[in-house]
Amino acid sequence: MFPIRVRDLRFQPNGRPVLDGIDLDIADEGITLVLGPNGAGKSVLLRTLCGLIAPTGGTMDWGGGARPERGVMMVFQHPMMLRSSVLDNVALALKPQGVARQQRHLRAMTILERVGLAHRSTDSARQLSGGEQQRLALARAWLTRPKLLLLDEPTASLDPSATAEVERIVREIRTDGTRILMTTHNLGQATRLGDDVIFMSAGKVREHSPLQRFFARPSSEEARLFIQGELPWRLNF
Ligand SMILES: Nc1ncnc2c1ncn2[C@@H]1O[C@H](COP(=O)(O)OP(=O)(O)OP(=O)(O)O)[C@@H](O)[C@H]1O
Ligand SMILES: [Mg+2]
Repeated sequence: MFPIRVRDLRFQPNGRPVLDGIDLDIADEGITLVLGPNGAGKSVLLRTLCGLIAPTGGTMDWGGGARPERGVMMVFQHPMMLRSSVLDNVALALKPQGVARQQRHLRAMTILERVGLAHRSTDSARQLSGGEQQRLALARAWLTRPKLLLLDEPTASLDPSATAEVERIVREIRTDGTRILMTTHNLGQATRLGDDVIFMSAGKVREHSPLQRFFARPSSEEARLFIQGELPWRLNF
């Protein structure tokens, strides 16, 4: 499935260039941060990669294939919880793979332990807090052992300790061999988690650099201003 090669990718509903000719190469390892101002097209890019949005132009090559075989998962800022228990919400992710019910539950319990939610397994998922729901959503995605995991602002409304917990889980998922692309407006988080940075604005990728270089020597004035505008976040951490 890797490298993923994106060429001249366009999404122009009603002629408005939301994705305006994206070129990207995604190698098979690490955590890539997709950064950029509100409305840059970050979420649309992630949704396009996981097949939720059909591009209006351009090509995506998945390691030589026209589409990813299986194993692309996305976790949203406000994940959807089914009206059932925490355990069922997670275990259900294995149903499409034809895993038997008892086995699904066993594996779901193991992953719930890894995200610190095993003790809530029989509770209603919809009664969990925002941070707990985010961890449940990560567990649900992780359980399927995705090759590529797309995370859209996974800690946007979480308190500092819930954020730290999500960051720990994201690192573990990566260590387990999953390639991760994530968006965040928390630049401190970006520096803690990222290997490389894709900087977007106005539907274009302005820069794709190793993380250290992006923050030390951004190649565009726009990226430099963006980093400066968010600088208090970095200093706070
Ligand atoms: N399905 C869609 N159809 C048409 N336009 C869309 C669609 N989804 C998003 N847009 C538009 O595309 C633009 C980019 O949106 P997107 O959500 O990708 O921004 P973003 O970079 O994720 O911003 P933020 O940092 O605020 O999350 C916005 O103007 C949005 O209104
Ligand atoms: Mg977004």
